[in-house]
This record gives sequence, structure tokens and C-alpha cells, in this order.
Amino acid sequence: MKSVVTRAVCPGSFDPVTHGHLDVIERTTRVAEQVIVAVGRNMAKNALFSPEERVDMLSAECSRWPSVSVTLFDGLLVDFCTANGVELISKGLRGGDFDYELRMAQMNRQLTGVDTVFFPTAPQWAYVSSSLVREVATLGGDVTGFLPPAVAVRTAARVAERRS
Ligand code: PNS
Repeated sequence: MKSVVTRAVCPGSFDPVTHGHLDVIERTTRVAEQVIVAVGRNMAKNALFSPEERVDMLSAECSRWPSVSVTLFDGLLVDFCTANGVELISKGLRGGDFDYELRMAQMNRQLTGVDTVFFPTAPQWAYVSSSLVREVATLGGDVTGFLPPAVAVRTAARVAERRS
């Protein structure tokens, strides 16, 4: 399929990156020639991983897609888009996300004209979020099914580290 735009961004906290995130990034590569995964530096509440660790894990997971790069961002997403020639914001949409995501998309479009596309989350990841994964992992649950194997290992190690 011919790409719809030259450059799109997949923004998020990615604390940690889940299978659901990777599904959306992969689907974005089908509509954009280049995809920037932008990790919000100060977005994660009760962060498990530092921004740099999140970039590190994402870079490893996204190395399978030559058109994807991973970076940190600060401040407004629309300013990041303007500074980096990004034409489209790409996000995954779960059931409960719609109202908040719609308002952010409308605000971003109002601010600079940058538009947002939503990919409906794959049904098998519809209930998965980084915040739930953090909570389950911190309380001793098994989160291996929701995370890439290397991320699951680092998550288990971080939780154990915090406990000791
Ligand atoms: O993974 P998350 O936590 O849902 O990601 C949220 C994120 C980082 C995409 C969002 O908070 C964001 O765009 N933050 C940047 C600050 C900004 O532009 N705020 C105005 C939004 S209309």
C-alpha cells in the first residue's frame, strides 16, 4: 500500500512498552513512510522506568522496522510535531479512551492543525495498559503475556529491585 503521509508520530509514556503499543506502531508503519515513537519525558506517574530506559527498550523492540525511530520529547506534542516535520499523530484507541483522546486530538488540531488517526486496539490487547501492567507487576502478578519477553524480564527485575 502507498503511504498516506511522510512522517507520523506515535507518542506515549511507554512505561513499559506493551504488545498493544507495538501493534499500533506496526500498523502506523503501513500509513507513514517514517514513524517516530516519541516518549514523553515527564508523563509517567509512578514511573517504573526512567525515560531513557523506556527509549532503550522501545529502540530494541522497534529495530525490526527500518522506518521507525525512537526519541524523547518534552513539552507540547504539537511543538514536537512542528519541529520535526511530523504530519500525523497516531494512537491506539481502547474502549474507555475515546472521550479523552478525542479532546486531545481536537486540541492538537486547533493548536497547529496537526491531525490524529486512531487505530482500534487489537481485541487481544484491548484491556492492556502500562498502568495496569505496572500495578499487576508491582503486586506480584504475572505480566509476561502482555509484554515483549525482554521487557517482561526487565520489568520483573525492576519490581524485585524495588522490593529489596
Ligand atoms: O501513554 P500516555 O500516557 O497515554 O501518553 C500521553 C501523551 C504523552 C501522548 C500525552 O500526555 C501528550 O501528548 N503529552 C504531551 C503534552 C501535551 O501536548 N499536552 C497537550 C495535549 S492536548
